Amino acid sequence: MEQLYMLEKSLNNFCERLEGSTPFKTLLEGQADSDLYIRFLIQTYHYVRFTPISLRVAANSLEGHFDPVYETVRERFKEHELEEQGHDEWVLNDLRNLGEDPNIVQRISPCDEIDAYNAYSKFVVKSSNAVALLGQAFMLEGISQRYGTPMARNLSERSEIPNARNAVTFLAGHGDADQEHMAELRHVITLITDEGDLDAVVLCAQVVSQLYSSMIEGLAA
Ligand SMILES: [Fe+2]
Ligand SMILES: [Fe+2]
Repeated sequence: MEQLYMLEKSLNNFCERLEGSTPFKTLLEGQADSDLYIRFLIQTYHYVRFTPISLRVAANSLEGHFDPVYETVRERFKEHELEEQGHDEWVLNDLRNLGEDPNIVQRISPCDEIDAYNAYSKFVVKSSNAVALLGQAFMLEGISQRYGTPMARNLSERSEIPNARNAVTFLAGHGDADQEHMAELRHVITLITDEGDLDAVVLCAQVVSQLYSSMIEGLAA
């Protein structure tokens, strides 16, 4: 399927862009200081907290679809919603273990890219192509699978961030679990035959990866 190939290609481009950006490389190699890691976690918190809601709304939007394949997608969205529950709390706990007050962190506004990311997700899940949210999952789970475990390990073992070992639960909780989630995602995507929906999945993946990359690049400022 042409779109699955495009998704894999987009994911590779996304990874290349992230690995080419200094803030991401610094985090991945465990060379980040507290300030960078805290700013990264704050932006992470601001999109992660909406993920279960987006998945629930997307599942609702697909209810009663005439094509039975969308029932499988709906089930995947509902399972994914459960998998994502509480991950915002992991981020807040990590921030607490870095000495940050979660109440203050929650009041810090997200950057423009994360605002746009959330607004775009809200639009997608209520649109006639709510299935496009699979594109967001493909990109985000794709990078978690690739980078979550090594980033958590390097930050806790190599960085000089005080208490880093107790502040990587969000990253460490993703890497391995997401190997399986990616396999499920690829399977679900191959079931879809509607070209309009498949194109929407690819577009969502591209928008989300652009916004996420810009957010990361902005951490250098
Ligand atoms: Fe998560
Ligand atoms: Fe996952």
